[in-house]
Amino acid sequence: MRQTLIMGNWKMNGTRAESQALAKAIVAGLDAGDQGIAVCVPFVYLSDVLSIIESTPVALGAQNVADQEKGAYTGEISATMLKDCGCTYALVGHSERRTYYGDTDTSVAARFCQAQKQGVTPVLCIGETLEEREQDKTFSVIDQQLNAVIDAAGVEALANAVIAYEPVWAIGTGKTATAEQAQEVHQYIREGLAKQNADVAENVQILYGGSMKPENAGELLSMNDIDGGLIGGASLDAESFLSIYRSA
Ligand code: PGA
Repeated sequence: MRQTLIMGNWKMNGTRAESQALAKAIVAGLDAGDQGIAVCVPFVYLSDVLSIIESTPVALGAQNVADQEKGAYTGEISATMLKDCGCTYALVGHSERRTYYGDTDTSVAARFCQAQKQGVTPVLCIGETLEEREQDKTFSVIDQQLNAVIDAAGVEALANAVIAYEPVWAIGTGKTATAEQAQEVHQYIREGLAKQNADVAENVQILYGGSMKPENAGELLSMNDIDGGLIGGASLDAESFLSIYRSA
């Protein structure tokens, strides 16, 4: 039985004070037995947020990780540093990274491997653009993005990873994939993995991301192969984030 995971992605939002307040409000809304909740915080506020969520059910994540281990890579943050700062998770290959910062399938695979090497769980983000969907390329894009990581790390590596299916056309646009559209891709991903390793396919958490909000979370999360959510906009408000968490 896969555990549900609800993960916030704060992106480049908030001040230190706002990040602390948001973390406090999330913690305040949780009960002792809660689990399966995490927040991906801007690098500079990781430590501030950690001091609030330490010893609570909320796990800490970063939004990216370097594709190199250490050295002369000005401006980059290594997996060792993330581990040191208390990160359990790191997003890799978020579509905003791929689109605006040139993250390629190869560099995403390297980031994935660096994270795993340090015991930080990579959350591999994959998904098609609107143009690709309209050209019926959704599955081939998914294959290409996923295979780049499988080729570099092996399918077994996905046993210690999370996959996030995020259709680019649904991110930050208010346009959510319907539960059926999302389930179709999640099922495709799981069935594809099952051909390579049944255990990995059965156990890997596949999150949906793209305008998930309290009003649509219940339906999306009720689908067989949707194991949680990666939530941007709605995770900046503790009440909506907790409401999505409760619907899981
Ligand atoms: P959104 O972002 O919920 O604001 O669409 C999701 C994401 O980019 O992870």
